[in-house]
Amino acid sequence: MTIKKRKAYELEIIDLAFGGKGLAKPDGFSVFIDRCIPGDVVLAKIIKKKKSWAEGKLIKLIKASPLRNEGRCQYCNFCGGCKWQQIGYDRQLEYKKRHVTESLDHIGGLKDIRVNDVIPSDHIYEYRNKMEFSCSSKRWLMPEELENEDVKKDFGIGLHVPGTFDQVIDIHHCDLMPELGNEILADVRAFIKASGLPAYHLRTHEGFWRFLMLRHSVAHDTWMVNVVTQSQHMEVVQQLAAVLTEKYPQIASVMNNITDAKSGVSLGKQEICLWGDDHINEQLGKFAFKISANSFFQTNTRACEKLYAKVSEYAALTGREMVMDLYSGTGTIPIWLSGQARMIYGIEIVTSAVRDARLNARLNGIENCEFLEGDIKDVLPRLNQQPDVLIIDPPRVGMHKDVVQQVLAMGPERIVYVSCNPSTLARDLELVSRDYDIKEIQPVDMFPHTYHIESVALLLKK
Ligand SMILES: C[S@@+](CC[C@H](N)C(=O)[O-])C[C@H]1O[C@@H](n2cnc3c(N)ncnc32)[C@H](O)[C@@H]1O
Repeated sequence: MTIKKRKAYELEIIDLAFGGKGLAKPDGFSVFIDRCIPGDVVLAKIIKKKKSWAEGKLIKLIKASPLRNEGRCQYCNFCGGCKWQQIGYDRQLEYKKRHVTESLDHIGGLKDIRVNDVIPSDHIYEYRNKMEFSCSSKRWLMPEELENEDVKKDFGIGLHVPGTFDQVIDIHHCDLMPELGNEILADVRAFIKASGLPAYHLRTHEGFWRFLMLRHSVAHDTWMVNVVTQSQHMEVVQQLAAVLTEKYPQIASVMNNITDAKSGVSLGKQEICLWGDDHINEQLGKFAFKISANSFFQTNTRACEKLYAKVSEYAALTGREMVMDLYSGTGTIPIWLSGQARMIYGIEIVTSAVRDARLNARLNGIENCEFLEGDIKDVLPRLNQQPDVLIIDPPRVGMHKDVVQQVLAMGPERIVYVSCNPSTLARDLELVSRDYDIKEIQPVDMFPHTYHIESVALLLKK
Protein backbone atom coordinates (compact mmCIF):
# COMPACT_ATOMS: atom_id res chain seq x y z
CA MET A 1 0.00 0.00 0.00
CA THR A 2 1.46 3.41 -0.95
CA ILE A 3 0.50 6.01 1.61
CA LYS A 4 -0.44 9.38 0.08
CA LYS A 5 -1.06 12.73 1.71
CA ARG A 6 -4.71 13.84 2.10
CA LYS A 7 -5.98 10.30 1.43
CA ALA A 8 -7.80 8.27 4.09
CA TYR A 9 -6.90 4.66 4.93
CA GLU A 10 -8.23 1.89 7.09
CA LEU A 11 -5.38 1.04 9.46
CA GLU A 12 -4.79 -1.27 12.40
CA ILE A 13 -2.95 0.21 15.37
CA ILE A 14 -0.25 -2.20 16.49
CA ASP A 15 1.61 -0.21 19.12
CA LEU A 16 1.92 3.06 21.04
CA ALA A 17 4.72 5.28 19.85
CA PHE A 18 6.74 8.14 21.16
CA GLY A 19 4.54 11.01 22.31
CA GLY A 20 1.65 8.67 23.06
CA LYS A 21 0.43 8.32 19.47
CA GLY A 22 -0.90 5.07 18.01
CA LEU A 23 1.36 3.36 15.47
CA ALA A 24 0.14 1.56 12.34
CA LYS A 25 2.56 -0.16 9.95
CA PRO A 26 0.88 -0.72 6.57
CA ASP A 27 3.47 -2.67 4.56
CA GLY A 28 6.13 -1.69 7.09
CA PHE A 29 5.62 2.06 6.64
CA SER A 30 5.11 3.92 9.97
CA VAL A 31 1.94 5.97 10.40
CA PHE A 32 1.40 7.80 13.70
CA ILE A 33 -2.16 8.62 14.72
CA ASP A 34 -3.18 10.55 17.80
CA ARG A 35 -5.89 9.21 20.17
CA CYS A 36 -5.59 5.61 19.00
CA ILE A 37 -4.54 2.63 21.06
CA PRO A 38 -3.15 -0.79 20.11
CA GLY A 39 -5.87 -3.06 18.74
CA ASP A 40 -7.98 -0.24 17.28
CA VAL A 41 -8.91 -0.38 13.61
CA VAL A 42 -9.38 3.16 12.37
CA LEU A 43 -10.04 5.29 9.35
CA ALA A 44 -7.29 7.91 9.29
CA LYS A 45 -6.54 10.76 6.92
CA ILE A 46 -2.86 11.40 6.17
CA ILE A 47 -2.01 14.98 7.14
CA LYS A 48 1.77 14.83 6.95
CA LYS A 49 3.98 12.60 4.82
CA LYS A 50 7.76 12.18 5.07
CA LYS A 51 10.09 9.68 3.45
CA SER A 52 9.92 7.04 6.15
CA TRP A 53 6.83 7.98 8.15
CA ALA A 54 3.50 9.77 8.02
CA GLU A 55 1.05 11.32 10.45
CA GLY A 56 -2.63 10.52 10.27
CA LYS A 57 -5.70 12.18 11.77
CA LEU A 58 -8.33 9.91 13.26
CA ILE A 59 -11.51 10.19 11.22
CA LYS A 60 -13.45 7.23 12.54
CA LEU A 61 -12.98 4.37 14.97
CA ILE A 62 -14.00 1.34 12.88
CA LYS A 63 -13.32 -1.32 15.50
CA ALA A 64 -12.45 -0.51 19.10
CA SER A 65 -9.50 -2.26 20.70
CA PRO A 66 -10.34 -4.74 23.48
CA LEU A 67 -7.91 -2.65 25.58
CA ARG A 68 -10.10 0.41 25.22
CA ASN A 69 -11.99 1.69 28.32
CA GLU A 70 -14.73 4.24 28.38
CA GLY A 71 -12.91 7.46 29.32
CA ARG A 72 -14.40 9.01 32.46
CA CYS A 73 -14.38 12.51 31.01
CA GLN A 74 -16.79 13.69 28.30
CA TYR A 75 -14.03 15.76 26.63
CA CYS A 76 -11.29 13.11 26.63
CA ASN A 77 -11.53 12.41 22.88
CA PHE A 78 -10.96 16.07 22.04
CA CYS A 79 -9.13 17.87 24.85
CA GLY A 80 -5.33 18.06 25.06
CA GLY A 81 -5.34 17.55 28.84
CA CYS A 82 -5.26 13.77 29.11
CA LYS A 83 -5.34 11.57 26.04
CA TRP A 84 -4.85 8.16 27.66
CA GLN A 85 -8.02 7.84 29.73
CA GLN A 86 -9.15 4.97 27.51
CA ILE A 87 -6.16 2.85 28.49
CA GLY A 88 -6.25 0.94 31.80
CA TYR A 89 -3.85 2.40 34.37
CA ASP A 90 -1.64 -0.71 34.68
CA ARG A 91 -1.13 -0.69 30.95
CA GLN A 92 -0.36 3.04 30.95
CA LEU A 93 2.44 2.29 33.42
CA GLU A 94 3.83 -0.47 31.17
CA TYR A 95 3.87 1.90 28.18
CA LYS A 96 5.53 4.62 30.23
CA LYS A 97 8.32 2.30 31.35
CA ARG A 98 8.86 1.17 27.78
CA HIS A 99 8.90 4.77 26.63
CA VAL A 100 11.82 5.48 29.01
CA THR A 101 13.74 2.34 27.97
CA GLU A 102 13.21 2.96 24.26
CA SER A 103 14.19 6.64 24.50
CA LEU A 104 17.45 5.66 26.22
CA ASP A 105 18.12 3.16 23.46
CA HIS A 106 16.93 5.08 20.36
CA ILE A 107 17.94 8.63 21.32
CA GLY A 108 20.89 8.05 23.67
CA GLY A 109 22.16 4.76 22.23
CA LEU A 110 22.14 3.58 25.86
CA LYS A 111 21.36 -0.13 26.03
CA ASP A 112 20.93 -2.48 28.97
CA ILE A 113 20.26 0.30 31.48
CA ARG A 114 18.32 -0.89 34.51
CA VAL A 115 14.90 0.78 34.38
CA ASN A 116 12.65 -0.17 37.31
CA ASP A 117 8.88 -0.62 37.15
CA VAL A 118 7.10 2.71 37.34
CA ILE A 119 6.08 3.88 40.82
CA PRO A 120 2.34 4.60 40.33
CA SER A 121 0.40 7.65 41.45
CA ASP A 122 -1.94 6.76 44.35
CA HIS A 123 -4.64 8.98 42.87
CA ILE A 124 -5.33 8.64 39.18
CA TYR A 125 -8.02 11.35 39.16
CA GLU A 126 -8.12 14.68 41.00
CA TYR A 127 -4.35 14.53 41.38
CA ARG A 128 -3.37 17.92 39.93
CA ASN A 129 -2.72 20.76 42.37
CA LYS A 130 -2.66 23.34 39.58
CA MET A 131 -4.86 23.86 36.53
CA GLU A 132 -4.69 26.65 34.02
CA PHE A 133 -7.77 27.38 31.93
CA SER A 134 -7.59 29.72 28.93
CA CYS A 135 -10.28 32.22 28.06
CA SER A 136 -11.02 32.57 24.38
CA SER A 137 -13.41 34.57 22.27
CA LYS A 138 -13.44 31.58 19.94
CA ARG A 139 -15.04 28.51 21.40
CA TRP A 140 -14.45 25.05 20.00
CA LEU A 141 -17.70 23.14 19.61
CA MET A 142 -18.28 19.56 20.72
CA PRO A 143 -19.74 17.30 17.96
CA GLU A 144 -23.23 17.36 19.55
CA GLU A 145 -23.19 21.18 19.50
CA LEU A 146 -22.30 21.59 15.83
CA GLU A 147 -25.88 21.53 14.57
CA ASN A 148 -27.28 23.58 17.41
CA GLU A 149 -27.70 27.17 16.24
CA ASP A 150 -28.51 28.39 19.76
CA VAL A 151 -25.04 27.56 21.05
CA LYS A 152 -23.00 30.72 21.65
CA LYS A 153 -19.53 30.51 20.11
CA ASP A 154 -18.02 33.78 21.27
CA PHE A 155 -16.73 32.68 24.66
CA GLY A 156 -15.12 29.64 26.15
CA ILE A 157 -13.02 28.95 29.22
CA GLY A 158 -11.17 25.68 29.31
CA LEU A 159 -8.38 23.74 27.66
CA HIS A 160 -6.99 23.96 24.17
CA VAL A 161 -7.82 21.53 21.43
CA PRO A 162 -4.46 20.21 20.25
CA GLY A 163 -3.46 21.79 16.94
CA THR A 164 -5.50 24.97 17.47
CA PHE A 165 -3.76 27.75 19.35
CA ASP A 166 -6.75 30.09 19.71
CA GLN A 167 -9.70 27.75 20.31
CA VAL A 168 -10.67 26.25 23.64
CA ILE A 169 -13.17 23.63 24.69
CA ASP A 170 -15.59 25.17 27.17
CA ILE A 171 -14.74 22.76 29.99
CA HIS A 172 -17.46 22.34 32.60
CA HIS A 173 -15.82 19.51 34.47
CA CYS A 174 -12.19 18.45 34.67
CA ASP A 175 -11.46 15.17 36.44
CA LEU A 176 -7.80 16.01 36.97
CA MET A 177 -8.47 18.54 39.73
CA PRO A 178 -10.41 18.18 42.99
CA GLU A 179 -14.15 18.72 42.68
CA LEU A 180 -14.35 22.17 44.25
CA GLY A 181 -12.16 23.47 41.42
CA ASN A 182 -15.01 22.70 39.02
CA GLU A 183 -17.44 24.71 41.11
CA ILE A 184 -15.05 27.68 41.18
CA LEU A 185 -14.56 27.34 37.42
CA ALA A 186 -18.35 27.45 36.89
CA ASP A 187 -18.69 30.60 39.00
CA VAL A 188 -15.81 32.33 37.23
CA ARG A 189 -17.37 31.43 33.87
CA ALA A 190 -20.72 32.88 34.93
CA PHE A 191 -19.05 36.04 36.25
CA ILE A 192 -17.02 36.59 33.08
CA LYS A 193 -20.09 36.11 30.89
CA ALA A 194 -22.05 38.64 32.93
CA SER A 195 -19.15 41.12 33.15
CA GLY A 196 -19.66 42.52 29.67
CA LEU A 197 -15.89 42.44 29.14
CA PRO A 198 -14.61 40.28 26.27
CA ALA A 199 -12.20 37.36 26.45
CA TYR A 200 -8.75 37.90 25.00
CA HIS A 201 -8.32 36.95 21.35
CA LEU A 202 -4.93 35.46 20.51
CA ARG A 203 -5.05 36.65 16.90
CA THR A 204 -6.26 40.23 17.36
CA HIS A 205 -4.71 40.61 20.84
CA GLU A 206 -7.81 42.39 22.02
CA GLY A 207 -9.98 41.48 24.98
CA PHE A 208 -9.69 41.47 28.77
CA TRP A 209 -9.96 37.98 30.32
CA ARG A 210 -6.95 35.76 29.60
CA PHE A 211 -6.56 32.83 32.03
CA LEU A 212 -7.91 31.33 35.20
CA MET A 213 -5.26 29.50 37.21
CA LEU A 214 -6.38 27.40 40.15
CA ARG A 215 -3.99 26.01 42.75
CA HIS A 216 -5.03 23.54 45.41
CA SER A 217 -3.24 22.72 48.65
CA VAL A 218 -3.59 19.03 49.45
CA ALA A 219 -2.38 19.47 53.04
CA HIS A 220 -4.80 22.28 53.94
CA ASP A 221 -7.54 21.75 51.33
CA THR A 222 -7.38 25.44 50.42
CA TRP A 223 -7.37 27.16 47.01
CA MET A 224 -5.67 30.00 45.21
CA VAL A 225 -7.61 31.66 42.39
CA ASN A 226 -5.41 33.61 39.99
CA VAL A 227 -7.19 35.56 37.25
CA VAL A 228 -4.95 36.72 34.45
CA THR A 229 -6.16 39.77 32.58
CA GLN A 230 -4.85 41.89 29.72
CA SER A 231 -5.11 45.16 31.61
CA GLN A 232 -5.93 46.52 35.05
CA HIS A 233 -9.60 46.85 35.92
CA MET A 234 -9.69 46.76 39.71
CA GLU A 235 -13.41 47.23 40.18
CA VAL A 236 -14.27 44.16 38.12
CA VAL A 237 -11.68 41.77 39.51
CA GLN A 238 -12.33 42.92 43.09
CA GLN A 239 -15.97 42.11 42.55
CA LEU A 240 -15.05 38.64 41.27
CA ALA A 241 -12.87 38.09 44.34
CA ALA A 242 -15.75 39.13 46.61
CA VAL A 243 -18.24 36.81 44.88
CA LEU A 244 -15.89 33.83 45.15
CA THR A 245 -14.61 34.34 48.68
CA GLU A 246 -18.10 34.93 50.05
CA LYS A 247 -19.19 31.57 48.67
CA TYR A 248 -16.04 29.47 49.27
CA PRO A 249 -14.30 29.63 52.66
CA GLN A 250 -11.73 27.24 51.18
CA ILE A 251 -10.29 30.06 49.04
CA ALA A 252 -7.21 31.40 50.80
CA SER A 253 -5.87 33.65 48.05
CA VAL A 254 -7.20 35.58 45.05
CA MET A 255 -4.55 37.04 42.75
CA ASN A 256 -4.68 39.13 39.60
CA ASN A 257 -1.81 38.80 37.14
CA ILE A 258 -1.87 41.45 34.45
CA THR A 259 -0.09 41.06 31.14
CA ASP A 260 -0.45 42.50 27.64
CA ALA A 261 2.28 40.18 26.28
CA LYS A 262 1.21 38.73 22.95
CA SER A 263 2.47 35.24 23.72
CA GLY A 264 0.03 32.93 25.48
CA VAL A 265 1.72 33.01 28.90
CA SER A 266 -0.07 33.58 32.17
CA LEU A 267 2.87 35.22 33.95
CA GLY A 268 1.85 38.79 34.76
CA LYS A 269 4.00 41.86 34.22
CA GLN A 270 2.16 43.09 37.28
CA GLU A 271 0.71 41.01 40.11
CA ILE A 272 -1.92 42.20 42.59
CA CYS A 273 -3.19 40.32 45.62
CA LEU A 274 -6.96 40.87 45.60
CA TRP A 275 -7.85 38.89 48.70
CA GLY A 276 -6.13 36.86 51.44
CA ASP A 277 -2.54 35.66 51.09
CA ASP A 278 -0.29 36.25 48.08
CA HIS A 279 0.64 32.55 48.20
CA ILE A 280 -0.81 29.16 49.03
CA ASN A 281 0.47 26.95 51.86
CA GLU A 282 1.39 23.35 51.10
CA GLN A 283 3.17 20.53 52.89
CA LEU A 284 5.62 17.96 51.51
CA GLY A 285 6.50 15.34 54.11
CA LYS A 286 7.30 17.26 57.30
CA PHE A 287 8.13 20.50 55.46
CA ALA A 288 5.85 23.50 54.90
CA PHE A 289 5.92 25.50 51.66
CA LYS A 290 4.52 28.84 50.57
CA ILE A 291 3.94 28.90 46.82
CA SER A 292 3.35 32.06 44.78
CA ALA A 293 1.08 32.08 41.76
CA ASN A 294 3.95 31.98 39.26
CA SER A 295 6.44 29.71 41.00
CA PHE A 296 7.08 26.18 39.82
CA PHE A 297 5.78 23.48 42.13
CA GLN A 298 5.39 19.80 41.18
CA THR A 299 1.77 19.40 40.10
CA ASN A 300 1.01 16.08 41.81
CA THR A 301 1.74 16.70 45.48
CA ARG A 302 1.52 13.12 46.78
CA ALA A 303 3.49 11.62 43.88
CA CYS A 304 6.07 14.37 44.43
CA GLU A 305 6.77 12.96 47.89
CA LYS A 306 7.49 9.58 46.30
CA LEU A 307 9.76 11.24 43.74
CA TYR A 308 11.73 13.08 46.41
CA ALA A 309 12.00 9.92 48.53
CA LYS A 310 13.76 8.35 45.52
CA VAL A 311 15.99 11.41 45.09
CA SER A 312 16.91 11.12 48.75
CA GLU A 313 17.67 7.38 48.43
CA TYR A 314 19.86 7.88 45.34
CA ALA A 315 21.67 10.88 46.91
CA ALA A 316 22.69 8.56 49.80
CA LEU A 317 23.76 11.48 51.98
CA THR A 318 25.57 11.01 55.29
CA GLY A 319 25.33 14.56 56.64
CA ARG A 320 28.87 15.55 55.58
CA GLU A 321 28.31 16.41 51.91
CA MET A 322 28.09 19.64 50.01
CA VAL A 323 25.20 19.28 47.57
CA MET A 324 24.20 21.42 44.61
CA ASP A 325 20.66 21.38 43.21
CA LEU A 326 20.46 22.77 39.70
CA TYR A 327 17.03 24.12 38.62
CA SER A 328 15.81 24.29 42.21
CA GLY A 329 12.37 25.92 41.69
CA THR A 330 10.85 26.87 45.04
CA GLY A 331 13.64 25.05 46.88
CA THR A 332 11.70 21.88 47.52
CA ILE A 333 14.55 19.39 46.91
CA PRO A 334 17.18 21.27 48.98
CA ILE A 335 14.68 21.67 51.82
CA TRP A 336 13.69 17.98 51.58
CA LEU A 337 17.39 16.98 51.80
CA SER A 338 18.45 19.65 54.29
CA GLY A 339 18.68 17.32 57.30
CA GLN A 340 20.89 14.90 55.39
CA ALA A 341 23.71 17.16 54.12
CA ARG A 342 26.23 19.71 55.44
CA MET A 343 25.33 22.42 52.92
CA ILE A 344 23.06 22.67 49.88
CA TYR A 345 23.10 25.28 47.12
CA GLY A 346 20.00 25.68 44.94
CA ILE A 347 20.21 27.55 41.64
CA GLU A 348 17.10 28.84 39.87
CA ILE A 349 16.31 31.47 37.24
CA VAL A 350 12.82 32.64 38.27
CA THR A 351 12.99 35.49 40.80
CA SER A 352 9.75 34.65 42.61
CA ALA A 353 10.76 30.98 42.92
CA VAL A 354 14.10 31.95 44.51
CA ARG A 355 12.27 34.32 46.85
CA ASP A 356 9.87 31.50 47.77
CA ALA A 357 12.80 29.09 48.25
CA ARG A 358 14.52 31.45 50.73
CA LEU A 359 11.25 32.08 52.52
CA ASN A 360 10.49 28.36 52.65
CA ALA A 361 13.90 27.55 54.11
CA ARG A 362 13.33 30.17 56.84
CA LEU A 363 9.80 28.92 57.41
CA ASN A 364 11.18 25.46 58.18
CA GLY A 365 14.04 26.76 60.34
CA ILE A 366 16.64 25.57 57.82
CA GLU A 367 20.02 27.27 57.81
CA ASN A 368 22.16 25.09 55.55
CA CYS A 369 20.46 25.90 52.23
CA GLU A 370 21.50 28.85 50.10
CA PHE A 371 19.60 29.87 46.97
CA LEU A 372 21.21 31.65 44.05
CA GLU A 373 19.27 33.40 41.34
CA GLY A 374 20.23 33.28 37.69
CA ASP A 375 20.81 31.13 34.64
CA ILE A 376 22.67 27.97 35.71
CA LYS A 377 25.24 28.40 32.96
CA ASP A 378 26.16 31.86 34.33
CA VAL A 379 25.88 31.09 38.04
CA LEU A 380 27.98 27.90 38.08
CA PRO A 381 31.25 29.57 36.96
CA ARG A 382 30.71 32.41 39.47
CA LEU A 383 29.98 29.99 42.30
CA ASN A 384 33.05 27.92 41.45
CA GLN A 385 32.38 25.13 43.98
CA GLN A 386 32.93 21.38 43.84
CA PRO A 387 29.84 19.51 45.08
CA ASP A 388 30.05 15.97 46.45
CA VAL A 389 26.56 15.24 45.15
CA LEU A 390 24.81 17.02 42.31
CA ILE A 391 21.04 17.03 41.81
CA ILE A 392 19.82 18.13 38.38
CA ASP A 393 16.10 18.68 37.67
CA PRO A 394 15.88 20.64 34.41
CA PRO A 395 12.77 21.73 32.48
CA ARG A 396 11.57 19.64 29.51
CA VAL A 397 14.34 20.89 27.20
CA GLY A 398 16.97 19.33 29.46
CA MET A 399 20.39 20.79 30.21
CA HIS A 400 21.96 23.56 28.15
CA LYS A 401 25.08 22.23 26.40
CA ASP A 402 27.30 24.62 28.40
CA VAL A 403 25.81 23.25 31.62
CA VAL A 404 26.65 19.70 30.53
CA GLN A 405 30.30 20.77 30.13
CA GLN A 406 30.25 22.55 33.49
CA VAL A 407 28.83 19.44 35.18
CA LEU A 408 31.56 17.27 33.63
CA ALA A 409 34.21 19.78 34.74
CA MET A 410 32.92 19.78 38.34
CA GLY A 411 32.90 15.98 38.26
CA PRO A 412 30.91 15.16 41.42
CA GLU A 413 31.09 11.53 42.60
CA ARG A 414 27.32 11.15 42.43
CA ILE A 415 24.65 12.73 40.27
CA VAL A 416 20.90 12.35 40.70
CA TYR A 417 19.20 13.48 37.49
CA VAL A 418 15.43 14.10 37.68
CA SER A 419 13.71 14.39 34.32
CA CYS A 420 10.19 15.03 33.06
CA ASN A 421 11.14 14.21 29.48
CA PRO A 422 12.62 10.82 28.49
CA SER A 423 14.02 12.25 25.22
CA THR A 424 16.18 14.92 26.83
CA LEU A 425 17.01 12.51 29.68
CA ALA A 426 18.41 10.10 27.08
CA ARG A 427 20.30 12.88 25.27
CA ASP A 428 21.84 14.31 28.46
CA LEU A 429 22.76 10.92 29.94
CA GLU A 430 24.51 10.01 26.73
CA LEU A 431 26.52 13.25 26.94
CA VAL A 432 27.82 12.39 30.42
CA SER A 433 28.08 8.62 29.94
CA ARG A 434 31.82 8.70 29.14
CA ASP A 435 32.51 9.84 32.71
CA TYR A 436 29.53 8.34 34.54
CA ASP A 437 27.97 4.90 34.97
CA ILE A 438 24.20 5.01 34.76
CA LYS A 439 23.37 2.75 37.67
CA GLU A 440 19.61 2.73 37.63
CA ILE A 441 16.55 4.68 36.53
CA GLN A 442 13.34 4.91 38.51
CA PRO A 443 10.30 6.22 36.63
CA VAL A 444 7.64 7.83 38.85
CA ASP A 445 4.17 8.54 37.49
CA MET A 446 3.10 12.07 38.28
CA PHE A 447 0.64 12.41 35.40
CA PRO A 448 -1.90 9.55 35.04
CA HIS A 449 -3.84 9.47 31.73
CA THR A 450 -1.10 11.35 29.89
CA TYR A 451 1.98 9.91 28.22
CA HIS A 452 4.20 12.05 30.45
CA ILE A 453 6.56 10.31 32.84
CA GLU A 454 9.03 11.56 35.43
CA SER A 455 12.29 9.64 35.93
CA VAL A 456 15.08 9.70 38.50
CA ALA A 457 18.49 8.48 37.34
CA LEU A 458 21.43 7.58 39.55
CA LEU A 459 24.87 8.26 38.02
CA LEU A 460 28.18 7.34 39.65
CA LYS A 461 31.58 8.66 38.57
CA LYS A 462 33.64 6.03 36.76
C1 LIG B 1 11.36 20.88 36.41
S1 LIG B 1 11.47 22.36 37.34
C2 LIG B 1 12.24 21.71 38.78
C3 LIG B 1 11.95 22.46 40.04
C4 LIG B 1 12.26 21.75 41.35
N1 LIG B 1 13.43 20.95 41.30
C5 LIG B 1 11.08 20.96 41.83
O1 LIG B 1 11.16 19.73 41.97
O2 LIG B 1 10.03 21.56 42.12
C6 LIG B 1 12.69 23.21 36.50
C7 LIG B 1 13.06 24.56 37.07
O3 LIG B 1 14.14 25.08 36.31
C8 LIG B 1 14.03 26.47 36.22
N2 LIG B 1 14.90 26.88 35.09
C9 LIG B 1 14.63 26.74 33.76
N3 LIG B 1 15.68 27.15 33.03
C10 LIG B 1 16.65 27.55 33.90
C11 LIG B 1 17.96 28.06 33.75
N4 LIG B 1 18.49 28.25 32.54
N5 LIG B 1 18.66 28.37 34.84
C12 LIG B 1 18.11 28.18 36.08
N6 LIG B 1 16.87 27.69 36.30
C13 LIG B 1 16.14 27.39 35.22
C14 LIG B 1 12.54 26.69 36.05
O4 LIG B 1 12.17 28.00 36.41
C15 LIG B 1 11.97 25.63 37.01
O5 LIG B 1 11.77 26.17 38.29
